[in-house]
Amino acid sequence: MKFIDLPAQQKIIKEKIEKRIKDVLDHGQYIMGPEVFELEEKLKSYVDVKHCISCSSGTDGLIIPLMAKGIGHGDAVITTSFSYIATAEVIALLGATPIFCDIYSKTFNLDPNGLEEAYDKAILEGLKPKAIISVDLFGLPARYRLIDEFAKSKNLFLLEDAAQGFGGEIKNQKACTFGDVSSTSFFPAKPLGGYGDGGAIFTNNDELAEKMRSIRVHGGGKDKYDNIRLGLNGRLDTFQAAILIEKLAIFESELIMRNKIAKIYSRNLSSNFIKPYIPNKYFSSWAQYSLLIKNKKERDKIISLLKKNGIPSMIYYKIPLHLQKVFKYLGYKTGDLPKSENISNRILSLPMHPYLKRSDQDFIIDTLRLLSHD
Ligand SMILES: Cc1ncc(COP(=O)(O)O)c(C=O)c1O
Repeated sequence: MKFIDLPAQQKIIKEKIEKRIKDVLDHGQYIMGPEVFELEEKLKSYVDVKHCISCSSGTDGLIIPLMAKGIGHGDAVITTSFSYIATAEVIALLGATPIFCDIYSKTFNLDPNGLEEAYDKAILEGLKPKAIISVDLFGLPARYRLIDEFAKSKNLFLLEDAAQGFGGEIKNQKACTFGDVSSTSFFPAKPLGGYGDGGAIFTNNDELAEKMRSIRVHGGGKDKYDNIRLGLNGRLDTFQAAILIEKLAIFESELIMRNKIAKIYSRNLSSNFIKPYIPNKYFSSWAQYSLLIKNKKERDKIISLLKKNGIPSMIYYKIPLHLQKVFKYLGYKTGDLPKSENISNRILSLPMHPYLKRSDQDFIIDTLRLLSHD
């Protein structure tokens, strides 16, 4: 059994993907070929936003908007402590300081009630709070009404890290539209994943879009050799774009399948586990299906039982960002963000992908019942 079954998906679209790859080989425009622009158009209309700027990864999708805003030394960026390293790494790479916020225990997303305290901490440390990076963890959008309200009240730039969140919704509004700028990742395991690295940035802001397009290719101005700002080699590869066009074509049907699988888990898993909570009018793209176990010891037992039965499981994330070695210099200690720490010790993600067979899912559910004794 696979944690994410990409070969099963590939079988369905193999011919179309091979044709797309052949087209790229035939026209030979490996850098910024027509597929890159075709994909951007399609993503833009899927998400319903004015600009889509494809890029080389979800990480570049975060650093490019921060660069466009000129964020650097002396600036503070507030973010969640319960995310993948890239969310906070980009802040520190630019010389700015990450200020970590705790999360809701039920959704694992940034708790807007912690924003004021994080803001005050930045001021106390003599930093200028400039931005918030919120994360749509495991496919579920963060609580944007409140996050956005706070950002506006303090004039902070809101960057939505929807690396895991593409396809999620709040009241029928799609993820990747909730920030001043939003970005996603096409890492193969993501809801919309390619066959390599990739990402995309979304915004309705014309001026920022132009800057971000320039930063994506070495800060270019009028042409390739007119360089007006610092930038990156942050382009999406034409082959990846070609593949993603075909993956996007089946994305809606895969979202329905993911939601069906999540429902089966939630209805049938033992009530001894805390199951994912989806707030009213929210829609998840189920990048992960994650349970909460009683404690770390119990989780270890469950992981080894699953493993013994050939069932893969993963821990996202074992160490919250504020306790990662790389951020030791920031001075956080155990106990500072108790919810993130507690969840890190109890979370466990089960196999989740659109092609998970019902028989495999029943086997996972039955195996977990063995240990929960109900
Ligand atoms: C929340 C989050 N942010 C950012 C990233 C970075 O994306 P990428 O791996 O495409 O650079 C990831 C990917 O794992 C992620 O999960």
